[in-house]
Amino acid sequence: MSLPNHIAIIMDGNGRWGKKNFNNRLIGHEKGIKNIRNIVEFCIKKKIPHLTIYALSKDNLKKRSKNEINNIFKLLKNYLQKNIYYFKKYKIKINFIGEIQLLPISLRKMLISCSEELNKFKSKLILNVAINYSSKTEILNVVKMLIKNKKKINVSNIEKYLFTASSNHPEIIIRTGGYKRLSDFLLWQAAYSELFFQKKLWPDFKVADLQNILKKFIKIKRNFGK
Ligand code: IPE
Ligand code: IPE
Ligand code: MG
Repeated sequence: MSLPNHIAIIMDGNGRWGKKNFNNRLIGHEKGIKNIRNIVEFCIKKKIPHLTIYALSKDNLKKRSKNEINNIFKLLKNYLQKNIYYFKKYKIKINFIGEIQLLPISLRKMLISCSEELNKFKSKLILNVAINYSSKTEILNVVKMLIKNKKKINVSNIEKYLFTASSNHPEIIIRTGGYKRLSDFLLWQAAYSELFFQKKLWPDFKVADLQNILKKFIKIKRNFGK
């Protein structure tokens, strides 16, 4: 088995990391967002062309305190502002997946202009960033759209309209933070993914951990029902 084309990561454990180290969940989110670049650079180096990261779920938005969510929005805006040059330099295309249209206007505008700016160039990495994302809603919306446009409801049409249509399905899904669940992430796309659950909290997850996962992955016999 060769290296994967697409890795997806549920970056869980920021809050616990911040609480444990600084008695402040927000510091965990700050640290977590900073940890993304290492993984991105590793994927580019290894020529893994697709990376999908779960940054914020639809349920997070609905169920967490306004304070935490607003702080995450602020972090995200600052991060994008500061890093756009970096994404350009490394030829990274960003595709925000999720119900972006329901985000506050200033953030939404920023996400749209950021991905438009980066999509002008040929890319080495497609980075799908899931924000206000729910896999169930994604599938539901695709089905509704097929009905509205009088298209056949079949597997290939559904796949054409998923947010991740420009990436193949992830061969690997990693979740940090110790829990073994998908929390409404890529439920359709995960049909044959290899799942790796890591005890480490996301800010502690390093390139060496990803290398270990890849070592295991290349030894796995994938059957796809054969
Ligand atoms: C994941 O970390 C990032 C987001 C959901 C924004 P959490 O905030 O869920 O961290 P824990 O699981 O509470 O430690
Ligand atoms: C999943 O983590 C969402 C992200 C990592 C962005 P959660 O912390 O929201 O998941 P649950 O609530 O523990 O299932
Ligand atoms: Mg969590």
